[in-house]
Amino acid sequence: MEYFFVPGRLKKLSLAELNSVCRNILGSQYDITDKEQYFVLKTDFEESFVKEIFSRLGGFLKYGKILDADIDIQNLTDGGKIIFGISSYDDSVGFDEIKKLSHNFKTEFVKTGKKVRFVLPKGEEFLSTSQVLNNKLISEGLELVILKNQMARTLGVQDIESFSTRDYKKPYVDSKMGVLPIKLARIMINLAEIKPQGSLWDPFCGSGNILLEGLDMDYDVLGSDIDENALQGAKKNISWVKKHFKYNSKANLFYLDIQNPTRSKVDILDKSEIGGIACEPYMGKPQRRLLQVNEANSLVRQHLILVENLFTILNNLNLEKKIKVVVVFPEYKTRKGWVSVKKDQLNFKNTKLIQKDLHWSRENSIIKRLIFVFEYKSR
Ligand SMILES: C[S@@+](CC[C@H](N)C(=O)[O-])C[C@H]1O[C@@H](n2cnc3c(N)ncnc32)[C@H](O)[C@@H]1O
Repeated sequence: MEYFFVPGRLKKLSLAELNSVCRNILGSQYDITDKEQYFVLKTDFEESFVKEIFSRLGGFLKYGKILDADIDIQNLTDGGKIIFGISSYDDSVGFDEIKKLSHNFKTEFVKTGKKVRFVLPKGEEFLSTSQVLNNKLISEGLELVILKNQMARTLGVQDIESFSTRDYKKPYVDSKMGVLPIKLARIMINLAEIKPQGSLWDPFCGSGNILLEGLDMDYDVLGSDIDENALQGAKKNISWVKKHFKYNSKANLFYLDIQNPTRSKVDILDKSEIGGIACEPYMGKPQRRLLQVNEANSLVRQHLILVENLFTILNNLNLEKKIKVVVVFPEYKTRKGWVSVKKDQLNFKNTKLIQKDLHWSRENSIIKRLIFVFEYKSR
C-alpha cells in the first residue's frame, strides 16, 4: 500500500522524524520517496500501523491513502449527504482547476440522489488542517487529494487541539526560560527511537514540555533539572496532563545537577530502563538583540560543558543497550554571522554523531536550534 504524508514547515526535519518512526514501528519493511510537497510511504503493513505512525508524529500535517487508478469516487462515500473538499499537492493543478473539479464532482454526486456540499481551499491549493477538522471531512465527509499522477484520500490530520491544550492550558509556564516548542519536543522524542518498554529521560527538563509529549506517546518518563522551581512546575504540569488526557505512563522527577551528580541520583537512573534521551540544555536567557561574538562563544561553551557532563554520567551508568541521545545545540546570530559549536568538539566517549544537519528556527529569530542525534553505546 502507498500513503502520502504532508510535512510541516521544516521538511528535512520532518523527513528524519518520519524515517525514525517508521524504523521504530515497521523495522526495515518500508520505503519513503520525496515528492517535494509530500512524501510517499510504501509498506505492506496494515493500515492501522500507518495510523499509529501518523499519530506519533510532530512534524506532519496530513496523511492519507493513495487510491487505485481505477477507483470509483462514488464508492468512497456513503449516506445521503456528502461534504467533500479537494486539495492539490501537484504544482500543475491550481485553485481554478480545483474549483472546476469540485463542481464536476458535485454534479456527479447529485445524480445519485445525494445532497452535496463542498469546501474550497482558502488562499492555497490545499485545505488547511482546521478546514478538514471543522468540516468533519475525515469522520463524516471526504477530502480528495491530487498528487503527482495519483489521487488519494485523507485519513488523518494533525491533532492541533491536543497540542494546543498541552501548550496553552497547562498550569505552569516559565517565561524567563526558553521553552521548547511542543511539536519540536515530539519530533525529538521520535528521533530518539525509544522502544515501548524503554523510558525517556530529559536531564534538563525545565517546565517539562518534552516529558508531556513523552507521556502522550505512552512512554514512562524521567525528568531532572537543577532548578527546584522548574521541577515543581513540571510536576504540576504532569499531574494536570495525566488527569486531563488520562495518561497511564509513569513520571519520575528529581533534582540533578548534571555537573555534580550524587550517587543516589545516578542509582535512580541506573534502575530505570533508559531507552533514549531528548533534551535542550540551558542556552542562556531569551535574547532580544544580536549578540557580541564573545557573548555567543561563551554561551556555546557553557552549553557544551553541560552536554559533556551528560555523557560523563552516561559512562557511569550500566546501560546495556545502544541508545540515541537527541540534543538541541544553540546557534546565535551575531554582528559577524552565526556562532555555534564546532563539529570536532562533539567527540564524546562511546558516542557517535549520527545526525548533524537538522535545525529548527523561526523567521528572523536570533537563536537557531540545531538538533543533533548521537548514538551512545557503553560496551
Ligand atoms: C532550555 S531549558 C529546558 C527547557 C525544557 N525542555 C522545556 O521545554 O521546558 C534548560 C534547563 O536546563 C537547566 N539547567 C541548567 N544548568 C543545569 C545543570 N547544571 N544541571 C541540570 N539542569 C540544568 C535549567 O534549569 C533549565 O530548566
